[in-house]
Amino acid sequence: MNTVTTPMPKLYEKAADFMPINGTDYLELYVSNSKQAAHYYKSAFGFRSLAYAGLETGRKDTESYVVAQDKIRLILTSPLRSGTEVGRHIDQHGDGVKVTALWVDDATYAYNEAVKRGGKSYMEPKVEEDADGRVVRSGIYTYGETVHIFVERKDYAGIFLPGFRKWETPHFNPEPIGLKFVDHMVGNVQLGRMNHWVDFYEEVMGFTQILSFDDKDISTEFTALMSKVMSNGNGRIKFPINEPAAGLKKSQVDEYLDFYEGEGVQHIAVATDNVIDTVIALRSRGVEFLQVPTTYYDVLEERVGKIDEDIDSLRSLGILVDRDDEGYLLQIFTKPVQARPTMFFEIIQRKGATSFGKGNFKALFEAIEREQELRGTL
Ligand code: FE2
Repeated sequence: MNTVTTPMPKLYEKAADFMPINGTDYLELYVSNSKQAAHYYKSAFGFRSLAYAGLETGRKDTESYVVAQDKIRLILTSPLRSGTEVGRHIDQHGDGVKVTALWVDDATYAYNEAVKRGGKSYMEPKVEEDADGRVVRSGIYTYGETVHIFVERKDYAGIFLPGFRKWETPHFNPEPIGLKFVDHMVGNVQLGRMNHWVDFYEEVMGFTQILSFDDKDISTEFTALMSKVMSNGNGRIKFPINEPAAGLKKSQVDEYLDFYEGEGVQHIAVATDNVIDTVIALRSRGVEFLQVPTTYYDVLEERVGKIDEDIDSLRSLGILVDRDDEGYLLQIFTKPVQARPTMFFEIIQRKGATSFGKGNFKALFEAIEREQELRGTL
């Protein structure tokens, strides 16, 4: 009889399957000036115009521009007058991520399962229709005022969502720069609340914890943080959750919580197939990155072994490398992308590695501390 050897299951395959998620559908950012923010994401990050909703489409209070690059879609929403919920949110938190929308086959089922398991309702299942079909959306709260919206779009053939019209900008649509999809999205939560949100993702959404970092993994001379990584069953949705840890000085998570005035999304990691080309394009368009000391590269090959990329190119661009059992990854972090020192982006290229760059934490957090020092918030 033949024996069949099955490969070791990935950790995330333990996740419960009551909440099947196909991927990230969109991210909605509440921003002070959606028109200018859309231009920034186009000109600096290589997004293209996709859709628009505002006064011309029948909205009264808010305006939204949608930009897209490969599988990534950002909605940028601003208030059109005072006294709106969006305006209140911006007044408290500054620009930031309000919605992480998850693409599901059945938004009513996802909502019912989540609420049954203790999720707090944000939006009951709602059917939206136009000439291109119908979409069902529902939503629950996660940390802070951040929400997850479930999007069911199997009966929809339009460009984005009902209520939006195509946004055409024939005179300016940059060439994409290689950003492909959302790899992971990190939340910062209050001291002592990480395990609460780990439980939330396990119990309410059927996620499983795939990694954990304590304050010994993530600490410098001055500051520390702790982190656990939650993943859904197919590994397409990964949400690390950070909380501050006691240190001699104020950690980056504390600084975030102060300036965001609460818990929220710290960074969005977007995947590319060619981090060198992508970062060259981003830098040439004015995107600012954290810089580690060039000595980082002197011992790089010793630490991670042979890699395909030229170390001098990585050094000149400031790209970091880390290796795990399965391969290696290349990553780089932008400075915050709005007035407050809160949300930023990570650009990541995975070459087998499924982890998050633990070997870079120390160099990276020292780089963040140098920025905090300049802001007087360390
Ligand atoms: Fe990350």
